[in-house]
Amino acid sequence: MSLPTTRKALIVSAADTSQFELVEREVPQPGPYELLVEVKAVSVNPVDTKVRAKRAGKVLGWDASGVVVARGSEVRRFREGDEVFYAGEITREGTNTSLHLVDERIAGRKPRKLDHLHAASIPLTALTAWEGLYEQLEAKRGGTLLVIGAAGGVGSLAVQMASRVTKMNVIGTASRDTTREWVKKMGAAHVVNHRENLPAQLAALGVKNVDAIFCCVGTDAHFEAMAEVIAPGGRIVSIVEPEQPLPMGKLFGKRASFAWEFMFSKSMHKTPDLVSQQAILDRVADLLDEGVLTSTLTVDAGVLEPAALAEAHRTVASGKMVGKLAFRL
Ligand SMILES: NC(=O)c1ccc[n+]([C@@H]2O[C@H](COP(=O)([O-])OP(=O)(O)OC[C@H]3O[C@@H](n4cnc5c(N)ncnc54)[C@H](OP(=O)(O)O)[C@@H]3O)[C@@H](O)[C@H]2O)c1
Repeated sequence: MSLPTTRKALIVSAADTSQFELVEREVPQPGPYELLVEVKAVSVNPVDTKVRAKRAGKVLGWDASGVVVARGSEVRRFREGDEVFYAGEITREGTNTSLHLVDERIAGRKPRKLDHLHAASIPLTALTAWEGLYEQLEAKRGGTLLVIGAAGGVGSLAVQMASRVTKMNVIGTASRDTTREWVKKMGAAHVVNHRENLPAQLAALGVKNVDAIFCCVGTDAHFEAMAEVIAPGGRIVSIVEPEQPLPMGKLFGKRASFAWEFMFSKSMHKTPDLVSQQAILDRVADLLDEGVLTSTLTVDAGVLEPAALAEAHRTVASGKMVGKLAFRL
């Protein structure tokens, strides 16, 4: 198949970094371990809105679903025509482009039961939820897990994985009727409000301590409450960088541990377990195909174009997302 010589890309406008421009760029050649993917759909994550101001002229977007159209000499796993989904690397160009390069070690097979739009809304949040739960929290069957910010992109999948895959008793947090309902739909046994006293609400449920906590929003704001409700020997993971130094000593008496999850860490540092992200995405694809996990897409944002992408950034930055938003190309 002959490839086009140019591709479309949406870049952050230099004149106003809250806006985007459609440009044409050369089609890059895949390196030895890379796939060139014809991107069919992408999603928007909070990270896009956080890095945007410093990336004028650059392509954002770290979630894609598409079809392999060319590959490097060392690629073994995928061939032209294969459908893949992936998040990519934060240190490289993002996925808001018609043809995109990705290291095959961080791409998984696209779930067969999901179309590209639904598939594109999965990778970044699934990698975060999976690594947070199984690599950092070492989540175990039967325990109780508190998920703070449970209706967001990551929380929605963390709740599903913990309740449906690991059969944990999951308590999620949400502050509005819509998000409360969604969190229950994702599989939480109980929902408490993160804008009210968490320990008191757990006590009212008859829960004194939780075995593990997955904090998706507001590490600083929720730290004291997390320290209070974590069980002795329990584990906490957070995916959000703190704004201030955290009072870690509060966990000492319970010998509770605290870990960070950053899904771009493996690709950023080229860790030896980089390829584990391919295995995670493949496993997630299986679970989606088996119906154990379900799509978290709530907003079909239409075709990717500059004004709609700027609008989507405003929606995602509002902090009120329920599940995920995605675009088709
Ligand atoms: N470390 C990583 O690898 C990684 C990966 C992905 C995301 N992240 C970061 O993690 C955060 C969450 O990402 P996401 O995609 O899940 O976000 P999201 O979809 O934007 O999360 C939205 C949800 O946050 C809830 N929320 C708002 N304020 C809250 C508060 N004060 N306390 C608890 N929950 C609150 C909202 O619930 P209500 O409307 O009910 O209040 C809403 O449903 C972002 O900061 C993102 O950049 C980090």
